Amino acid sequence: MNYQLILDEIAHEVSCLSNKGKVADYIPALANVDPEQFGMSLTLFDGTQYSVGDSNTLFSIQSISKVFTFTLALKFYSTNLYKRIGREPSGDPFNSLVQLEYEHGIPRNPFINAGAINVTDALISYFGNSTKASEEIFQFIRDISDETSVNCSKIVATSEMDHGFRNMALANLMKSFNNLDNDVYDIIQTYFRHCAIEMNTKMLSRAMLYLANHGVDPINGMVHITEQQAKRINAVMLTCGHYDASGDFAFHVGLPGKSGVGGGIAVVVPQKMGICVWSPGLNAQGNSLLGTIALELFATKTGMSIF
Ligand code: DON
Repeated sequence: MNYQLILDEIAHEVSCLSNKGKVADYIPALANVDPEQFGMSLTLFDGTQYSVGDSNTLFSIQSISKVFTFTLALKFYSTNLYKRIGREPSGDPFNSLVQLEYEHGIPRNPFINAGAINVTDALISYFGNSTKASEEIFQFIRDISDETSVNCSKIVATSEMDHGFRNMALANLMKSFNNLDNDVYDIIQTYFRHCAIEMNTKMLSRAMLYLANHGVDPINGMVHITEQQAKRINAVMLTCGHYDASGDFAFHVGLPGKSGVGGGIAVVVPQKMGICVWSPGLNAQGNSLLGTIALELFATKTGMSIF
């Protein structure tokens, strides 16, 4: 298959669309990103990469980081993790408080904010403190992307900390139900640090490979998680990776993927490749508008879908 041609066609088709979406402005440090940008990359199992557009530009990975923290938590706690977090779609916006109240502080899944905050808490407990937990999260992402330079933007993390009232509320609500072990401020700070990690589409498409290959990095053979755990993570990405638009993403694209409000979407094509697309303008559900369209075009042009 001529992947370069397909990516070039997709970039051209999305560039013709007049509505590019709206950048996330509830995090002030992200409000000034140029919505015209678009990049897309895919990485095959032998390491070959194909890219188009702004694929070297670093962007805030935001909720895509939740795939990697969920991976670590599942690795260390196995199915015990599900005592504190569910694995059902929420059908609600990513930062909703309502469901958490009537479900007694147990978040629906690890990809809504409450669930990801809970996962971060579990990792702080596992590693003993928040500094070590952050270091280990960063190191894991450096390992899977094979990119030692991966780091977080202090400006974005601080901006989130200064405006993260809802996340604080979610954490305090869980704490009131005894479903968080550590200090709320510490947990939220650690959560914002991993959301503020900056990567480009090349790095992220590479980083998804272990999920496309049963938990094992197909390039260097590193075993990250079990085959069953990889299967579960892909299942939760498919059903919960795009919040209340998860059904729509499965309907149109048909691949496990995770979005972030920075405009990135990272996708797994089982047994074939990792993909990442980035365009900062979002749709009403907080997922990249052009990114979602580009992935639908990719699935249609290549016939790649799990269905
Ligand atoms: O907690 C937040 O609001 C952000 N750090 C992450 C949100 C996010 O990326 C949701 N994604 N679509």
